[in-house]
Amino acid sequence: MSWRVLKKPIQARRSASPGRRTLAALALGLFTLATALAQDGLAPVTIIDFSIPEPLTQTPGDPAAGERTVRDSRIASCLICHALPIADEPDPGNIGPSLAGVGSRYSAAELRLRLVNPKAIDPDTIMPAYYWLDGLHRVDLPYQGRTIYSAQQIEDVIAYLLTLTDDTEGSAP
Ligand code: HEC
Repeated sequence: MSWRVLKKPIQARRSASPGRRTLAALALGLFTLATALAQDGLAPVTIIDFSIPEPLTQTPGDPAAGERTVRDSRIASCLICHALPIADEPDPGNIGPSLAGVGSRYSAAELRLRLVNPKAIDPDTIMPAYYWLDGLHRVDLPYQGRTIYSAQQIEDVIAYLLTLTDDTEGSAP
């Protein structure tokens, strides 16, 4: 996986005036950065060094709620593609890597970008963007115009993933 390093933070604030937004978009000059500016209605997201350091909500993520969210097959469950160290999960997908130990491999900020918009890391990934609207193709009808997860669900899932450290890998099924 190649990780290009961005020099400048990408600001996507709703409060910015249209003129300043356009200027910022021109200055940054990258398509994905420009699209980040147009996400009206969503929590502002600042992508820096392939991560999103700022939480999307004031309320800290709740790991137990996060586990319920990732298991919920109605909302594009991670288990379609990833194995998770959940004892009673009989048949996880293996399209993506196992998420056992993922809390040791990534920081909260890195996990946040991966969940919000993995296409900012790899434009060709098949992993869905859970908190992004612009520039997505083949979006399932129920999700058109809204994100898969809410901002709070993103934070809850990050909190859950951070509990999946290498220490917990031994209990994987
Ligand atoms: C449609 C399949 C799919 C779904 C659904 C999916 N992912 Fe992924 N995910 C992938 C693939 C494929 C990769 C490998 C890298 C890439 O292609 O972006 C990946 C990579 C990752 C990584 C980086 C793992 C590593 O070891 O580098 C994390 C973390 C991750 N996914 C978390 C999640 C979480 C959490 C969910 C549910 C909220 C989820 N994914 C849902 C396909 C999926």
